Amino acid sequence: MAKITLSAARERIEFLKKELERHNYNYYVLNAPTITDFEFDLLMGELQGLEKMFPELATEDSPTRHVGSDLSAGSAGSDFVQVPHRWPMLSLGNTYDREELYEFDGRIRKAVTVPYSFSCELKFDGTAICLTYRNGRLLRALTRGDGTKGDDVTRNVVNIPAIPRQLHGSGIPSEFEIRGEIYMPYAAFERLNAERLEAELDPFANPRNAASGSLKLQDPAEMRTRGLDCVLYHLLGEDLPFKTHTEALEAARSWGLPISEYSRTAADIDAAVAYITEWDTRRKTLPFATDGIVIKVNELELQRQLGFTAKSPRWATAWKFKPEQALTPLLSVDYQVGRTGAVTPVANLEPVQLSGTVVKRASLHNKDQMDLLDIHIGDYVYVEKGGEIIPKITGVELSKRPADAARPVFPDRCPDCGTPLVRDPDEARHYCPNQESCPVQIKGRFIHFAGRKAMDILAGEATIEQLWNCGYIHTLPDLYALTREQLVALDGWQEKSADNFLASLEASKQVPFERVLYALGIRHVGEQTAKMLARHFGSIDALMAASREDLVQIEDIGETMADAILAWSASPAARQTVGRLREAGLQMAVADTADSRLSDRLAGKTIVVSGNFSISREDMKGLVEAHGGKNAGSVSGKTSWLLAGEKAGPEKLKKAEKLGIPVLSEKEFYQLIEP
Ligand code: IVH
Repeated sequence: MAKITLSAARERIEFLKKELERHNYNYYVLNAPTITDFEFDLLMGELQGLEKMFPELATEDSPTRHVGSDLSAGSAGSDFVQVPHRWPMLSLGNTYDREELYEFDGRIRKAVTVPYSFSCELKFDGTAICLTYRNGRLLRALTRGDGTKGDDVTRNVVNIPAIPRQLHGSGIPSEFEIRGEIYMPYAAFERLNAERLEAELDPFANPRNAASGSLKLQDPAEMRTRGLDCVLYHLLGEDLPFKTHTEALEAARSWGLPISEYSRTAADIDAAVAYITEWDTRRKTLPFATDGIVIKVNELELQRQLGFTAKSPRWATAWKFKPEQALTPLLSVDYQVGRTGAVTPVANLEPVQLSGTVVKRASLHNKDQMDLLDIHIGDYVYVEKGGEIIPKITGVELSKRPADAARPVFPDRCPDCGTPLVRDPDEARHYCPNQESCPVQIKGRFIHFAGRKAMDILAGEATIEQLWNCGYIHTLPDLYALTREQLVALDGWQEKSADNFLASLEASKQVPFERVLYALGIRHVGEQTAKMLARHFGSIDALMAASREDLVQIEDIGETMADAILAWSASPAARQTVGRLREAGLQMAVADTADSRLSDRLAGKTIVVSGNFSISREDMKGLVEAHGGKNAGSVSGKTSWLLAGEKAGPEKLKKAEKLGIPVLSEKEFYQLIEP
C-alpha cells in the first residue's frame, strides 16, 4: 500500500467504514446490493490494510471486526423475534490470492504440532441459517443476524422440504446446533423472477438475494412456493463424540440432514488447491450458485486449539471465485441525462467479449463511483456483468495506465442544456434542475408519457424526437393539439400513420386516472405508487391539495417520495400541465365508484388472473374490481381463486394445485358474477 499521512488515513478510514456499513445494510437487510462482492472485498481489504498500518485508528465498531447484520426488526411489517445465539455466528476470512492460501497453511503449521488435513467444500451462495435440534426434533431456526443474535425464522424454515423436522437414526445428541446455508437453485430463481416480472414487481438481482428475501417473508404459505433448498456444514454442541468435521457431517447425514455431496478431504494444502482449481471450472455446471471454496482444518481438536479472531475462525478460510471479467481500454465517458434530470456517467469501451456478449458501454453510476475507482481516460478497466444486465466497471489496471491518461471531468453543468448541476444531499447522484426546459428531460418525459404502461400512445423515441425538432411539442398537453395536417406533412408520415397516431391519442383519453398519474412522470412515483395514490386520493385535485402529513401517513410513502410529490404539486408548470390535460379530456379522477361498481359478489375475495380470455386480461381484472374483488399478481395462501384463461401460467396452475386453491374458467367466473 502506498504511503499515506495519518490525517489522510483517518479520513479514508472514516469514509471506508461508512461505505462498508452502507453496503452491509444494502446486502443483508435490503437484499439489494449495489456493488459486487469483489468490490466489497476490495474496500474491506483496503480498510484492513489501513487499520494494520495505523492501529491507533482501528476502533471496536469497525466493519473489519464485526459481521454485517441481517436483523430485520424495526423494518416495516417485520415481526420476527430476535434470539441470542448460543455460540456467535461468525464470518470467514477470504482471499482471491493463491499465495494467501499458503500463508493460511503456514500459520496453522506454526501453531500446531501434529499432522492435520483439510475439508474442502463448496461455498454456497445463499443466506446463513442456524438450526437447533432437541431430542431429534427441530426446535428453532435463526438467521445470522448481527452474529450475536438472529431473527427467529422457524415458522418459515419448516416450509423448506430439505430441512427435516424430525431426525431418525442412532447417536443423535440430545441437543445440538447445525449451521448451513439456505439457497435458491437457479431453476427456482428464474421461475420466481418470471412471476415477479409478470406481476410487475422488481426481479431479484441474484439467487442469494432471492433466498434471503424469501426467508424473511411474513407469509409462510408464500414461502412454501419459493423452491428454497438447504445445505448444512457446521455441527456444534457440547461434548459431541466426533474427532473430525467430516465424521460429524457424515453422522448428520445419517440422521437425515442435508449435507453437501461435493465435499472432499485433502491431505495437504496442495491437494486443497487442486480441489479449488477443479471447481473453478466445474462450478459452472452446478444447478445453484457458489461464490467460492471453503477450506477447513478437519481435526476438531486442532480447530479448538486454533480458535477465532473477532470475526472469523483461524481454522478456516474461503477462496472466493472472481466474477467473470474482461479487461479493455476506456475510450471516453458520456454523461446521460434521464427524464428526471439524473446525470449518469456511462463509459465507452473498446468492444470486448464477456460471458457470451460483446460489451461496448458500461455504467459508472455516479461521481463518487468514478472517484472511488480513480478512473482515467485510456485506462484499461475491468468490466463485469454482476447481478444486473448493464455491465459495470469494477476496477482499473494501474500497471497499464498510459503516461498521458487524464481524469475525466464530471461536468458541473448539464451536458444538454448547460444549467449548473445540483447534488441531492441524500443521494450520490447529480441532477439537472432545469426540469422545465432541459430538452433531454422533456423528451424523456414524452417518451415516458406515451409508454405502454402509461398513456399507450403510438409514439416512440423517433417520433417524439421528430415532433420536438419541428417545435410542435414542448409540454405534455401539446400532444393533444397536434393536427392531421401537421402530421402528414412530416417526413415519413402518411395519412394512415397520422390517423393511427391520432386515434391512439383519442383512446388515451379513456386511460384510467392511475395510469395518467403514472404518466405524468412525478419523481419517485412508479406504477404501483401511482395506483396507491389514485386509490387513496381519488383525484388529481385531492392529491395536489395534500399536505406532507397527509402523504407520509400513507403506508409505503416515505419522506423522499412525499417531498417529490409536494415539490411537483407546488410547481406552476405542473398545475398548468394538469389544467390543460384536463381540458384535453384526460381522466383526472378515478371513475365514479357508484357507476363502476357492478356488484359486491366478489367482496373479500382475492383473485389471480392468468392467461388469455375472450376479453383483454386488463378488462378481466377490471371486472374483478367492478364486482368488489381484489386482484393479485401471484398465487399464495391468500388467493381465493385462480382465474385461468387459455395459456395460463403453468407455474401458477401448479402452485394453485399445491395449495388447494380452486381454479376457475372464464365461463365459471361469469357464472359467479351473474346476477
Ligand atoms: S463455514 C465459522 N462452510 O459463507 C465458520 N460457510 O463468507 C462458519 N458459507 O457465514 C462458516 N458455504 O454463510 C462455511 N461450506 C461452507 C459455506 C459457508 C457458504 C457461508 C456462510 C458464512 C459465509 C462466510
